Amino acid sequence: MIEIRVNGKTLKVPEGVSVAAAIALSGHDRFRRSVAGQPRGPLCGIGVCFECRVTVDGEPHVRSCQLLCWPGMEVCTDD
Ligand code: FES
Repeated sequence: MIEIRVNGKTLKVPEGVSVAAAIALSGHDRFRRSVAGQPRGPLCGIGVCFECRVTVDGEPHVRSCQLLCWPGMEVCTDD
């Protein structure tokens, strides 16, 4: 298990889990908002739709389904 932070809360997740899965484990179902303000979340899970974008360690628009967690990672959703 490793520790990451999702929206400021510490979360223990299995090593090798994707950021999208970690966010889902944390209980969040909204990953970002559309330009019109609608909630968005993962759709394809394979890096095609870009609906799962979040901010990771200050870098915006990271596709969370394509990135594995590392210890100390800071993830922010557009909640
Ligand atoms: S869920 Fe489609 S790009 Fe991540």
